[in-house]
Amino acid sequence: MKVVGINGSPRQDGNTALLLKTVFAELNDRGIETELIQLAGRPLAGCTACYACLAQKNARCVIDDDFFNDCFAQMIAAEGIILGSPVYAAGATAQIKALIDRASMVLAANKGLFKHKVGAAVVAARRGGAVGAFDTLTHFLHSKDMYLVGSTYWNMAYGRNIGEVTDDAEGIANMRNLGENMAWLLKKLYG
Ligand SMILES: Cc1cc2nc3c(=O)[nH]c(=O)nc-3n(C[C@H](O)[C@H](O)[C@H](O)COP(=O)(O)O)c2cc1C
Repeated sequence: MKVVGINGSPRQDGNTALLLKTVFAELNDRGIETELIQLAGRPLAGCTACYACLAQKNARCVIDDDFFNDCFAQMIAAEGIILGSPVYAAGATAQIKALIDRASMVLAANKGLFKHKVGAAVVAARRGGAVGAFDTLTHFLHSKDMYLVGSTYWNMAYGRNIGEVTDDAEGIANMRNLGENMAWLLKKLYG
């Protein structure tokens, strides 16, 4: 059983990565393998609306010179997917949005690839816009035949500089509970 966590921040190993690792710790404690995929420093173009994926139906995007197909293949191979993003201008980052846009179209061409996977979203914010970013991530997961995992609050934590989210005790507790809930559901489905 494997969960991939995708860090949509252009800042590697920042607050979003810390949140994903907090969820991972709970999954690992319960015997579930995890892998952090960081989009930082990896080229990822937006969808060009060529619609070629609808014709070729090979679970790949025709833009083949960036990180998308590699990342998408890792998402297909996992039983669980966590999307993570910091809030940028009251929304999700351009990097994770590019991934979502292209994955949505490739999934429209290849229905069912994410069926019955377990999904969750986590967001790091300095002050405002976390719910909007969270909605962007969960709307994607929710429309792909997946089971979404919740916690005791929406999965967000607050901080600006790297490490500051760990001072948000409620946010971190929420991430730990999310990991526990995700492990529980994964074991029911795949254990
Ligand atoms: C370009 C840019 C835009 C941002 N916009 C917002 C925003 O609208 N609302 C907010 O609360 N934080 C905003 N932030 C702060 C980040 O969300 C915050 O520092 C977050 O913890 C960064 O997570 P990371 O370390 O994973 O990149 C912005 C940061 C940058 C660099």
